[in-house]
Amino acid sequence: MEKEKFYITTPIYYPSDKLHIGHTYCTVATDAIARYKRLHGFDVMFLTGTDEHGQKIETKAKEADVSPKEFVDRIVEGPRGVKDLWKLMNISNDRFIRTTDDYHVKSTQYIFRKMYENGDIYKGAYKGKYCTPCESFWTESQLKDGCCPDCGRPVTDAEEEAYFFRLSKYADRIRTLLEDTDFLQPRSRVNEMVKNFIEPGLEDLCVSRTSFTWGIPVDFDPGHVVYVWVDALSNYITALGYGNDRYDDYEKWWPGVNIVGKEIVRFHSIIWPAMLMSLGEPLPKQVYGHGWLLLDGGKMSKSKGNVVDPYLLAERYGTDALRFFLLRSFPFGQDGNFSNELLIQCINTDLANDLGNLLSRTTAMVEKYFGGQLPAEQDADGLDEELITLATALRDRYEVQMEKFQMQNGLEEIFKVVSRANKYIDETAPWILAKDEAKKPRLARVMYNLLETLRICAVLLLPFTPDSCTEIFSQIGASGEETNWDSAGKWGVLPADTRVHKGENIFPRIDVEKELQELDAVQEAARKASQPALELEPQLAEKVDFDTFCKSDFRVVKVKSCEAVKKSDKLLKFILDDGTGTDRQILSGIHKFYEPEELVGKTLVAIVNLPPRKMMGQESNGMLISAVHTEKGEEKLNLLMVDDAIPAGAKLC
Ligand code: MSP
Repeated sequence: MEKEKFYITTPIYYPSDKLHIGHTYCTVATDAIARYKRLHGFDVMFLTGTDEHGQKIETKAKEADVSPKEFVDRIVEGPRGVKDLWKLMNISNDRFIRTTDDYHVKSTQYIFRKMYENGDIYKGAYKGKYCTPCESFWTESQLKDGCCPDCGRPVTDAEEEAYFFRLSKYADRIRTLLEDTDFLQPRSRVNEMVKNFIEPGLEDLCVSRTSFTWGIPVDFDPGHVVYVWVDALSNYITALGYGNDRYDDYEKWWPGVNIVGKEIVRFHSIIWPAMLMSLGEPLPKQVYGHGWLLLDGGKMSKSKGNVVDPYLLAERYGTDALRFFLLRSFPFGQDGNFSNELLIQCINTDLANDLGNLLSRTTAMVEKYFGGQLPAEQDADGLDEELITLATALRDRYEVQMEKFQMQNGLEEIFKVVSRANKYIDETAPWILAKDEAKKPRLARVMYNLLETLRICAVLLLPFTPDSCTEIFSQIGASGEETNWDSAGKWGVLPADTRVHKGENIFPRIDVEKELQELDAVQEAARKASQPALELEPQLAEKVDFDTFCKSDFRVVKVKSCEAVKKSDKLLKFILDDGTGTDRQILSGIHKFYEPEELVGKTLVAIVNLPPRKMMGQESNGMLISAVHTEKGEEKLNLLMVDDAIPAGAKLC
């Protein structure tokens, strides 16, 4: 039987700066939906990408003294750029579109021309405020104290020739679409749109500019570039081959579901369907407007210097833990307040205490009482019924929530079952059963029930924490069809005499107090390091007294071995001779600057009395010292190397 199709997209992100945790939230949520649909047996196409044109990018590139294309290339393709971030976050997108890709440029020109030929685009005059020295048009609301927001000089009333899209023509159809269908979700967003935009009257939209050049030229009037939102919205169909021959699966996938943040719902629920109406193409199946992640109740913004770096968090706590936190802690349709406390609590409560503990207790008991393999002879008991009923019904309850994109509620259902299973351990007291040889079959059944519960929960957690679920499967001995969607709705799938392999604790508990202090300090340092002002005016750090300085134990160390850390583009793992006779392991984020082979045998400097720290699941005991400087906005690191004649362990003072 042919699989049902499902096409889902994220917004395409502006590569005007590094992406932050808010962008990551949106992409991780969409990824979880895509993974859920695949798990459920759908044929899925998942698209994400970058929105690379417009005046803002042109200005930023000018400031950085590079061409706009070089500027966006760096942010999209460069180290720790957009693509790297999605790799780190384990995003399973099938395609990645850049609006500077040739095929998209060609298709956008085709779309613009088609709407023009249909009579929906006409030439008119764009009235605005003009700053002559900057050659820029501004709207009244963009002005700063009535002057140009860029240079502060006075502006004049001016007109420029521009193309307009007949948005007003589609007002009634858009209103019906919003009010009478489920097109826009959650429902609360419909009222916002109707009240704020439809009721005051939809005006025709200016869809070309002549005041800057970094955009897609209108092919029949090349002095004009296409308005960046027309260019951007088109991505959802150009990436499938609409108007180009790079891809040819538009018919197969479109229409799809567009997931977007609340502030861009307006573009997606009014302008986008109107464009498709004009083109005579099907409308999206749904536009879902999710809430924002706030920091201290306000919007995160690079200019306020209050953005949270997803790299830092994923590298510190693991990709799965960060993905899980984002979807477990905030209702998708509403705003949520990000905080470090919430993040650490969430990891400790759900992942370490509830799920991690259930797994480690169960596998440890199966190993201890049965040498890792359950006997086939098992005794059921009425006490088991509640857990079995709850776990067997979980998949359906979870599905109801996931179909509405209520990931938080879906996870809530799973964790009700995880808690019930932990309570079941206390009720059945396996350690007492284990004392009586005659009760071994009963003990075996208790273990089996726990393993089955873990299996069902892990299948349904796959969209959220994919790598950890694979690890759970390997520990409880589940594989192949025992880990698919069908199996999650059934009880008794694992063979009775299943074999477990106790492994590492997948989610170690975090010391909250200590970690919060460290995390705050690390985030603060990272923020300071990313302030460009520092590059221009190097400033010295605050003074410390001599005793404080002396507490830092810097030693000469020799590199015995060095290798890249799996799944990390950045980390190298060093085994070092520090003169104590015991090997010291340190992880360092310098892979971008060195290949591991070139460092073996080198004599370096490390601080050796920092508390141990976990990165990508591995412990680091200390930090290698590098000289850090910034070059063209990019941080460069050079490891401090000293004369090979100095013995390991020599103290620096
Ligand atoms: N380029 C446009 C989208 C074009 S789609 C055809 C754009 N880019 S953006 O980079 O500014 O934002 C992309 C998405 O990130 C938006 O959906 C926005 O809501 C989301 N987020 C940015 N900051 C956010 C939070 N703090 N929280 C949640 N999502 C946020 O708009």
